[in-house]
Amino acid sequence: MKISVIGAGNVGATCAEVLAHHEIANEVVLLDIKENLAEGKALDIWQSSPINMYDTRVIGTTNDYTKTASSDIVIITSGLPRKPGMSRDDLISTNAKIVKSVTESVIKHSPDTIIIVVSNPLDVMTYCAYIHSKLPSSKVFGMAGILDTARYKAFLATELNVSPKDIQAVLMGGHGDTMVPLPRYTTVGGIPVTELIDENRLNSIIERTKKGGGEIVNLLGTSAWYAPGSAAAQMAEAIVRDQKRVFPVCAWLEGQYGLNKVYMGVPVILGKNGIEKIIELQLNDEEMKLVKLSAAAVKEVMDVLDKLDY
Ligand code: NAI
Ligand code: 2OP
Repeated sequence: MKISVIGAGNVGATCAEVLAHHEIANEVVLLDIKENLAEGKALDIWQSSPINMYDTRVIGTTNDYTKTASSDIVIITSGLPRKPGMSRDDLISTNAKIVKSVTESVIKHSPDTIIIVVSNPLDVMTYCAYIHSKLPSSKVFGMAGILDTARYKAFLATELNVSPKDIQAVLMGGHGDTMVPLPRYTTVGGIPVTELIDENRLNSIIERTKKGGGEIVNLLGTSAWYAPGSAAAQMAEAIVRDQKRVFPVCAWLEGQYGLNKVYMGVPVILGKNGIEKIIELQLNDEEMKLVKLSAAAVKEVMDVLDKLDY
């Protein structure tokens, strides 16, 4: 198994480290456009192998896509991150150019790969990779839902003083302020979360989750990387090990939830073929309304991409 990670910045390097540390692939290739950055970080990660006891080979390269040839999975993290005051959508024109050129180079050397997009604005950059890869949509999808759900679970674990391992939750919609955490599908050790927390506290956790990315940007001056890098690696693991994990993933919808031709977060089954099934929840009217609003917000930015000359 070979996984290439494009972009050796905060998210890409973290993802490569997690992939190697957990032996999710035999070979991890880290690629960046910035001279020597990927080589340096890959060497550092590889030198942790005798300490962390793994044998995944990690190599770095400056923009040489021949090194990524025949990758089973490619994770795209290249692109600008948010700075304070910026929304994810502010990144669209710069990151669309980057994601388009990266996708074309990736496909040239790994025509049958599976692509996991991380670059922002996530839903629209996933659409961009889909258009330019010409792969089936089951093989091009984006990471956001695992991260957003992890934030929601982490906040709940702190609030309830329980292990985050015991929280199960699902969250839908675009990766932005319109995302839709679903309390009706949130349990703590099998107990509905609504039996353990009052409505006001739960609502404030939901609001904090929606702004979870911005909270980190305000603290750090750039966006998060530990949780995003681990989340992308977890998706790769589900594919490599054919685990059939159920995750919220940014997927191409063609009729599901009454939505057509939009990339958005929905629960899916991830296995060796990529997205093996999109799960359609029986949402109530209020939940469906929020999901449709989120889809409309994503569609607006997809339309911007469609009109962009890049
Ligand atoms: P970063 O700035 O640390 O790293 C980005 C890297 O991409 C840089 O090293 C840069 O040299 C490289 N790069 C730029 N153009 C390239 C090209 N054409 N080919 C190869 N490499 C290129 O940024 P960070 O924090 O790693 O974030 C990366 C992206 O992921 C951003 O767009 C960010 O907004 C997004 N992100 C998405 C999340 C999600 O949930 N989907 C979560 C966190 C970040
Ligand atoms: C995050 O949610 C900014 O998308 C990035 O951390």
